[in-house]
Amino acid sequence: MTDPTTTEKSAPSPQAAPLHHRPVRSFVLREGRLTAGQQRAFETLWPRFGVDWQPGEPLDLPALFDTPQPVALEIGFGNGESLAAQAAAEAERGPGRNFLGLEVHRPGVGHLLLEIERLDLTNLRVMRADARALLRPPPDGGLPDASLTGVQLFFPDPWPKQRHHKRRIVQPDFMRDVARVLAPGGFFHAATDWAPYAAHMLEVIDALPELYQNTAGRGCFAERPASRPPTKFERRGERLGHRVFDLVYRRR
Ligand SMILES: C[S@@+](CC[C@H](N)C(=O)[O-])C[C@H]1O[C@@H](n2cnc3c(N)ncnc32)[C@H](O)[C@@H]1O
Repeated sequence: MTDPTTTEKSAPSPQAAPLHHRPVRSFVLREGRLTAGQQRAFETLWPRFGVDWQPGEPLDLPALFDTPQPVALEIGFGNGESLAAQAAAEAERGPGRNFLGLEVHRPGVGHLLLEIERLDLTNLRVMRADARALLRPPPDGGLPDASLTGVQLFFPDPWPKQRHHKRRIVQPDFMRDVARVLAPGGFFHAATDWAPYAAHMLEVIDALPELYQNTAGRGCFAERPASRPPTKFERRGERLGHRVFDLVYRRR
């Protein structure tokens, strides 16, 4: 599998490349070892549940799933346990939504593939890609306008140091890209245990009232929706005594 997070469409010659031209990523790719189970998951489960995508390719979302249903996207699912639990709960309730999970960290992707097998999920697909690349408008991005019923972003890397704030994934341009792929009435749900990042998200998204309505009211955080299972990073934050902030917006 080629790595979509590092593939450039056409690399400029070293002489032509400006010295400062380095993508500012919202993640650091820690390779980490795959367990034997995760290795097997890539070999046997990826062909069924994994989605190969390269920048510039359009993605046919309905064709990815067994049952055509509205699709919610989760960005940065980590080890995928909460996403798998959410997809399982949704399937149990009857016809509802399909889920597409995005993560760049290979062991996390392998872990979620194993969860899909363990829970026998048919409404969840997994992609290894940079969310910022996937959500870009055409011709670079992969998603059609208004193609998603929701986008969720749970405990994104907080990048606490001032000099790293530009790496935070929630920025005005990114939120415009998210708005493009959301269907009218679709939701954007974020959660974080890092209070300064919560304040930053609120400020950025509340400043786009033509695109998003804050369901809790301008300047307010939402109650934690019952549909969000606890995540690994959330439990870590709670052990450290952090408060958790939920933000729920509706696409106008
Ligand atoms: C702090 S972890 C939280 C993981 C999980 N949501 C949880 O709560 O346990 C953030 C995750 O986002 C992933 N990530 C960061 N930037 C990303 C991007 N641009 N596209 C896809 N995944 C990204 C990272 O690899 C990391 O696993």
